[in-house]
Amino acid sequence: MTDNTTTLSPAPRRIAVFGAGYIGLVTGACFAELGHRVVVRDIQPERIDLLRSGDVPFFEPGLGDLIIRNKERLSFTLDADEAVREAEAVFVCVDTPPTASGDADLSRVWAVVEALKNTASHLAAVVVKSTVPVGTGSRVRAALDEAGLSGVGYASNPEFTAEGSAVADFLHPDRVVIGAFDEATAHWVEGLYAGIDGPVDIMDVASAEMVKLASNALLATKITFINEIATVCEATGADITQVARAVGRDHRLGPHFLNAGLGYGGSCFPKDSRALRAMASNSGYPFQLLNAVIEVNELQPRRAIQRLKSELGGLRGRRVALLGLTFKPGTDDMREAPSTVIASRLLAEGAEVTCWDPMARPAEAEPWSSTTRHQDVPEAVSGADAAVLVTEWPELADVDWHAAARRMRNPLILDGRNLLDPEALLDAGFTYMSVGRATRVPPSDR
Ligand SMILES: NC(=O)c1ccc[n+]([C@@H]2O[C@H](COP(=O)([O-])OP(=O)(O)OC[C@H]3O[C@@H](n4cnc5c(N)ncnc54)[C@H](O)[C@@H]3O)[C@@H](O)[C@H]2O)c1
Repeated sequence: MTDNTTTLSPAPRRIAVFGAGYIGLVTGACFAELGHRVVVRDIQPERIDLLRSGDVPFFEPGLGDLIIRNKERLSFTLDADEAVREAEAVFVCVDTPPTASGDADLSRVWAVVEALKNTASHLAAVVVKSTVPVGTGSRVRAALDEAGLSGVGYASNPEFTAEGSAVADFLHPDRVVIGAFDEATAHWVEGLYAGIDGPVDIMDVASAEMVKLASNALLATKITFINEIATVCEATGADITQVARAVGRDHRLGPHFLNAGLGYGGSCFPKDSRALRAMASNSGYPFQLLNAVIEVNELQPRRAIQRLKSELGGLRGRRVALLGLTFKPGTDDMREAPSTVIASRLLAEGAEVTCWDPMARPAEAEPWSSTTRHQDVPEAVSGADAAVLVTEWPELADVDWHAAARRMRNPLILDGRNLLDPEALLDAGFTYMSVGRATRVPPSDR
């Protein structure tokens, strides 16, 4: 419908946010920063206690400071009725994890809708930020109408922030997408964003729901495409870093998401790609391209294990150090991290696994309960037959690799993110494997 860049200060509103996870807390804190009064509701008592005591339940740069700075306008509660009572709008930011069939599990979204039925008649809008299949908004709208809430507006407002830069992404977005059934609701929600630095894209609800799924699927496809090119580079002698750099200089393609690696992970790309595939299949359309993307991505960490296995002549009894466990740097999020597949596969092959990560808090369950955690990289690689750089934490570029090589039983590294300088690693005595480039051996072994 429209495309405006917001510049005005927002009229202060009262907002209830359901869900104190990555998205709910960033949304709540950023709306408070814009001047609104926000109450965040969650169902986990320990999470609410932590937030009330001034702590953040996970690591997200800048979020803790933002919450403290806005504490006069930001409160936390377990009580749904209390949250809705004073609010003018409810933002739904609950998790929508995959079910066994790959479809999104909407039970938490419906639990919120249920909680609103007797309490929401005074609201201007119910706004869903959670990532949901196309058609969810229509079903929620029908449920609100049935409950006598046809005077309450509905909007889909998908979130595009990335963990690790979520606060900056929220306040300086590439775009804010608002889908609504009526112009008045769309513009009311748009008003909440006055003051942010970015364009607002208003459209119908189904299209807004699809923008989120299409964006994540396209990003996953771009990553997977460059990983496929990397595999062909390995087979043909080309160097993926040189190829990707020049490909990315084409303004029609852009340089982002062209780093070959061990595959995408995290709470969004795997889940949303599978949800879009399931949604297409449910509508009778087999989304072949997305099928291939998902399959190639699942193979990517397994290929790394195969390469390591053939380089070492087997993995049984070998010690392998995993450097970086989170799905990407700058977060403590381990959801669908490729490191989990790599650790599981190594253990299944009979290897011993040690690991290092500056921030990860892996679950006390398999595979992590069978691995040994270390506080620093030289300790983690001590006695190892190979190291695998899984997550490109910047501190890994500053490791004393000469010292690390001396502590290893066999100085072999698989740089799964092409982070390190190959010449420096060769100089330190490493056999250097990476993604999409030929394996290099140190001068003494040539
Ligand atoms: N994490 C991301 O980077 C990201 C980015 C864009 C979109 N999303 C989407 O945003 C949604 C939330 O993701 P997240 O990563 O913040 O999830 P999360 O798991 O970190 O947080 C969800 C929170 O909702 C709470 N919750 C569940 N039911 C509730 C209820 N009835 N009332 C109040 N709180 C309830 C949970 O206890 C939890 O604290 C998902 O749909 C996700 O796909 C996530």
